[in-house]
Amino acid sequence: LKTVSVALGERSYEIAIGSDILGELGEALGRIGAGPKEMIVSTRRLWQPYGAAAQDSLMKSGFHVSVALIDDDEESKSLATVTSIYDKLVENELDRSSGIVAVGGGVIGDLTGFAAATFMRGIRFIQVPTTLLAQVDSSVGGKTGVNHPRGKNLVGAFHQPTLVWADVSTLRTLPQRELRSGQAEVIKYGVIADAGLFQMLQNDTRPFSRWENENLIEIVSRCCSIKARIVQEDERESGIRSILNYGHTVGHALETLSGYRYYTHGEAVAVGMAASARISHALGIAGEETVRAQESMLIDAGLPTRIDRPLSSRDIMQQLNRDKKTLAGHTRWVLPKNIGDVFVTDRVPPEVVEQTLQDMITPERMTA
Ligand SMILES: NC(=O)c1ccc[n+]([C@@H]2O[C@H](COP(=O)([O-])OP(=O)(O)OC[C@H]3O[C@@H](n4cnc5c(N)ncnc54)[C@H](O)[C@@H]3O)[C@@H](O)[C@H]2O)c1
Ligand SMILES: [Zn+2]
Repeated sequence: LKTVSVALGERSYEIAIGSDILGELGEALGRIGAGPKEMIVSTRRLWQPYGAAAQDSLMKSGFHVSVALIDDDEESKSLATVTSIYDKLVENELDRSSGIVAVGGGVIGDLTGFAAATFMRGIRFIQVPTTLLAQVDSSVGGKTGVNHPRGKNLVGAFHQPTLVWADVSTLRTLPQRELRSGQAEVIKYGVIADAGLFQMLQNDTRPFSRWENENLIEIVSRCCSIKARIVQEDERESGIRSILNYGHTVGHALETLSGYRYYTHGEAVAVGMAASARISHALGIAGEETVRAQESMLIDAGLPTRIDRPLSSRDIMQQLNRDKKTLAGHTRWVLPKNIGDVFVTDRVPPEVVEQTLQDMITPERMTA
């Protein structure tokens, strides 16, 4: 079991990373003084393998456990679903001393976290992330929230968990495509902050599904350490935390333009990282070897680095401008200098962006 600490004063917490550790969750909750009433929020398909194990463990440690099973598709990440969680909390008489345990991917974590942030003005919550993306990214850092018809994650709150319990053995049942999606975020951490991690991934080209638990624990804890370090410095994203959005500028535009149906989040981010590196190179900052090293790693991971949708560079530029307006500012670019070193700028000439996108569109699609 590895632990990573997130030092945020009275909001500090530990991230525990291990394999087959769901049975020890009850004891861990006992140690942080939780209880006596806890509610587990999960989804039907994860109940048998994981939710029930968490429940058993909590009950063995003497907790009074209630359960709310919700849908976890992106469309269900809504206030209506949060309301259904409130209903369960009220029905089961949870109070200010109670806590909620989220067992699932980022959708479950964001929804549960938001319910916990707002129920009785904020109660404790525990993250038990079961996707690679949730283990390396969404379960850490305290961003919670839901979607609005006009935009993803438009409604939310900062609410740090009191414990993150990441069991890498849960990744064994994760569909390949979801695993790859998380891998994009892992590669992102290497590029933004950890050349050693990037090298480790370069030296072991096995697909993630073949990695042993020890390797996965090492990778997840390395990513969590980076995120913890950044969040400690800038909890509410007024500065350095924005480097975590590397690849997300173009990625987000692609996700929106394809109605969140074509690319998974990680796939869109992979294309976005490829775009950022090329932009940096076009500006004379990143060397060609940096662009190539990142691109071949993404390709080896089975992730896209080109735009193979019937989209024009114009469409994408327009979407980038719309996002800029919603965020009331400039388009913020996180660009690599070298592997492990990035900087943030809002001064990228639009022509450079458009030309880069143009070059990334697969030729046979340009006529579509
Ligand atoms: N809060 C943050 O800081 C933050 C950061 C990044 C992403 N997010 C959010 O996270 C969400 C995406 O999260 P995600 O990538 O974890 O996807 P997800 O929660 O949508 O899960 C993907 C699918 O995998 C299933 N699943 C989960 N764990 C499984 C397992 N162990 N075995 C088999 N199936 C499993 C889920 O039921 C779901 O169908 C988005 O809504 C995004 O906005 C939040
Ligand atoms: Zn992301």
